[in-house]
Amino acid sequence: MDFLAELRTHTTHLHERLDRAVSQTPIASRAGYARFLLMHARVLPHAERWLAGEPAFASLPGDRMRTDALMQDLDALELEAPPETKVAFNDEDSVAGVAYVLEGSRLGARYLLAELAKSDISVPDAFLRHGEGQHCWKTFRDWLASQPATPSAVEAAVTSARAVFAAYLDAVRDPEGV
Ligand code: HEM
Repeated sequence: MDFLAELRTHTTHLHERLDRAVSQTPIASRAGYARFLLMHARVLPHAERWLAGEPAFASLPGDRMRTDALMQDLDALELEAPPETKVAFNDEDSVAGVAYVLEGSRLGARYLLAELAKSDISVPDAFLRHGEGQHCWKTFRDWLASQPATPSAVEAAVTSARAVFAAYLDAVRDPEGV
């Protein structure tokens, strides 16, 4: 099985919904940018702490943790870190599935930075710039391709990826989810 293709096929509708929900308030506005960072702050620190405790995650090369950069941007915007929307991770959960969503979320960063650059607002962007020049997505894809893509591993990854997307949709208060 092709791990990446399976994850993509079974989560792309959630990504589209999340993209729509995030874009409800234009990112290139102080309110929209704050909403975007607070959405990540509700989910990402908890997910990264879980990943940090998983042996499989240790084999994924590179500095992947963005919680500090995210908190730095919130501080600079004088925003308090919100209560976390916790995903109930358990032993069944998959590092591949959780990391797919977090690492994939970097891909939108370039687009979002371009939107901000076109706007007249100046905001801290340590979180969006984290990993710039380190080819994080390519090295993640290479790592994913080296993981045994058994039907049960793929199923666990898809389930975990969906759970993280669902937490993000909850965190951004997705109007379509009400
Ligand atoms: C307005 C907000 C967002 C925009 C504009 C955006 C945009 C993008 C873009 C342009 C790509 C690359 C698509 C491609 O190369 O095929 C992408 C991929 C991805 N994004 Fe987003 N994104 C946004 C928010 C998010 C969020 C909040 C998450 C998760 C927390 C996320 C998760 C992903 C994932 C997992 C992929 C990889 C899909 C794949 O190639 O399999 N995105 N996004």
